[in-house]
Amino acid sequence: METSSLESTMPEISLKSGSQKIPVLGFGTASDPPVDPETTKSAVLQAIQLGYRHFDTAALYNSEQPLGEAIAEALNRGLIKSRDEVFITSKLWCSDAHAQFVLPALQKTLKNLNMDYIDLYLIHWPVSSKPGIVEYPIKAEDFLPMDFKSVWAAMEECQRLGLTKSIGVSNFSCKKLEEILSTANISPAVNQVEVNPCWQQKKLIEFCKAKGILVVAYSPLGAAGTFYGTNRVLDSPVINQIAKARGKNAAQVALRWEYEQGIGVVMKSFNKDRMKQNLEIFNWSLSDEELKKIGEILQGRANTGADYTSIYGPYKTIEELWDGDI
Ligand code: A2P
Repeated sequence: METSSLESTMPEISLKSGSQKIPVLGFGTASDPPVDPETTKSAVLQAIQLGYRHFDTAALYNSEQPLGEAIAEALNRGLIKSRDEVFITSKLWCSDAHAQFVLPALQKTLKNLNMDYIDLYLIHWPVSSKPGIVEYPIKAEDFLPMDFKSVWAAMEECQRLGLTKSIGVSNFSCKKLEEILSTANISPAVNQVEVNPCWQQKKLIEFCKAKGILVVAYSPLGAAGTFYGTNRVLDSPVINQIAKARGKNAAQVALRWEYEQGIGVVMKSFNKDRMKQNLEIFNWSLSDEELKKIGEILQGRANTGADYTSIYGPYKTIEELWDGDI
């Protein structure tokens, strides 16, 4: 049987929602530009062999099916012994963010994954779009305001039915989270947002900690090479100076910094060497001086969210989308 030495060393964080634990470093499956399903499947299998146990997908990414196939094959090959050894996150797309479509959307996700349940189901963005039209980018005239109360109630029903162990949101500001919390019976376990040394999200992380919501970082490396991505993280002089002094690389310094913020992280690499390097962040730490220097890096989002604004939609500007946090 193939096993991984890292398996036992991957730290986990308890989610508020119950006894569930999320492996700190997750493996992203969104590829931009898109790749064929076989590439995704073999990257996930490689990741499992290296010790990754937390996988992030979404209805939008076209990666649910190859992810499910990779997990099934990992079980067949004995790389993992049971489904519950992996933590699976998926996300509700905007066109299904209407109360009556939430449960069918999750059922479709489960069918794609060929699983009975997922571990975490997130509202992908705080906006709805016309039902039945799955498109990205969403056309300006297809945006609709989201009815947070009824959509969240439908998410809660998914958890009650056992189809997802936890529920949460993605790309929500403090203000929008407050709105969810004001009617919620089950509070969100997670808010998945962009976090990296160039967009540190101090205020949001503090707010979420106070509410018992775990922040999970996406684009932890700045999503270099993707359509909205930036090289500012991996090319940051501060990050690279620290990397050089410590005998690490820039990605490891960025990932270590994120881990030290007490948050979860979802990184994407389909390259075996980089997948491996990115795991090597748990047996060393940044000094106070290094943390201070990183704290002074000039801030700016990689993902401005401009694609989710529209003159016809609920958010006309990115200021409205992020409630001024830009
Ligand atoms: P690749 O899949 O070829 O490794 P993020 O996790 O912030 O979304 O960033 C993902 C991007 O960063 C991908 O393009 C990925 O490319 C690249 N990447 C992942 N790990 C590393 C690394 N250790 N060094 C450089 N680039 C990396």
